[in-house]
Amino acid sequence: MNISEIFFGKDIISLDQFDRKSVELLFRQVTKIKKTPTKKLLKILSGKIIALLFFEPSTRTFSSNAAAIKRLGGQTIEHQNPMQNSSVVKGETIEDTIKMIEQYSDAIVIRHPLVGTAKKSAQVANIPVINAGDGIGEHPTQALLDMFTVYEKHKHLNNIKGLMVGDLLNGRTIHSIIKCLSLFPNNTLYLLSPKQLRLSNKDLEEAKKRKIKLVEIKSFEEIPADCHFWYWTRVQKERFTDKREYEKLKLTFILTKKLVEKKAGKNTLIMHPLPRVGEIETAVDTDPRAVYLTTEPKNGMYIRMALFSLILGNS
Ligand code: CP
Repeated sequence: MNISEIFFGKDIISLDQFDRKSVELLFRQVTKIKKTPTKKLLKILSGKIIALLFFEPSTRTFSSNAAAIKRLGGQTIEHQNPMQNSSVVKGETIEDTIKMIEQYSDAIVIRHPLVGTAKKSAQVANIPVINAGDGIGEHPTQALLDMFTVYEKHKHLNNIKGLMVGDLLNGRTIHSIIKCLSLFPNNTLYLLSPKQLRLSNKDLEEAKKRKIKLVEIKSFEEIPADCHFWYWTRVQKERFTDKREYEKLKLTFILTKKLVEKKAGKNTLIMHPLPRVGEIETAVDTDPRAVYLTTEPKNGMYIRMALFSLILGNS
C-alpha cells in the first residue's frame, strides 16, 4: 500500500492500527511538511472544515490541532467545553452529537473522558475521526509526536532505551507510546512509578506479546546509563476518586536538575507530554536536553499537519 492508501479518509483511534511502515511514512511526511513553503501548505486543506470537540480541558492538543488546520488553509468548528456549552447539557447523546457535527465538517477531532468514545464516534461517523485522548485509554497523536521527536534526534526507533516515570496506570500517552515502540525491534522501556500507579496487568501482559521489553524499576538508582529519552508524566488527579491518595502520590518522583546531572546521558532527551504540576523542577527547563517546552509541542503541530494532509489533503 502507498502512503495515500494507508491514510486517506482514515480514522486515527489507536496505535494498534499502525505498523512500522505507516509510522515511517508518516514521519517522512512530517519532514516534508516542515520544508514546504507556506503558500503551498495553505492549499492543502483549502475549503475543508474540521471540528474540534474537546469534552476534557486541553492546551496543547487543542491549540496544535487548530494551528495545524489553519496553517494548511482549513477552518475549524470549536467546542471546548461541550459538557456545559452544547446540547449535551440538554441530554443529547454522543452518537447524535457526532451525527450532527458531521453534517458541518470534513473530519472530527475528539477528546473525551470515557475510554472508547473516539472509537464509538468513528463507528457512528462517515467522516474521519481522530482520537485526541479518550480517558485513560490512548492518545495516539501525542505518542506519534513524541516518537517523532525521538526519531528526529536519534535517527532511529529501534534499539531504543527509554525511561518512563510517573502515572503509568492512567497515562494515556504511555499506553500509546508502548504500542508505538513495540512496532520496532529491540526496544526496552524502564518503568518507574508508585506501586499504585504501575502499568495495569492487562497492559503488561499485552506488551509481553509484542516486540518490546518492559523492565520495572523501583528507584532513581536503577535508571540505566545513556537512555535515548526520559519521559516524565504527571500523576493524573482527574482519574482519582480519593483525592487524599492523589495528594500522597503526586510528587513521588520529582525530576531535579541534580538528577539530570547525575543520571542523564549527554544525548538523553528529557520529555514530558505536559501539563506538569511540580514533577519537573523549572531549573531543568534550560537544559539543552529538555524538549518538553520547545521541540515536543512544536512537533505536535507538525505531526497533526502531516496527518491532516494525508487524511484529507487536496492532492
Ligand atoms: N499533552 C497534552 O495532551 O496536553 P493537553 O492536555 O494540554 O492537550
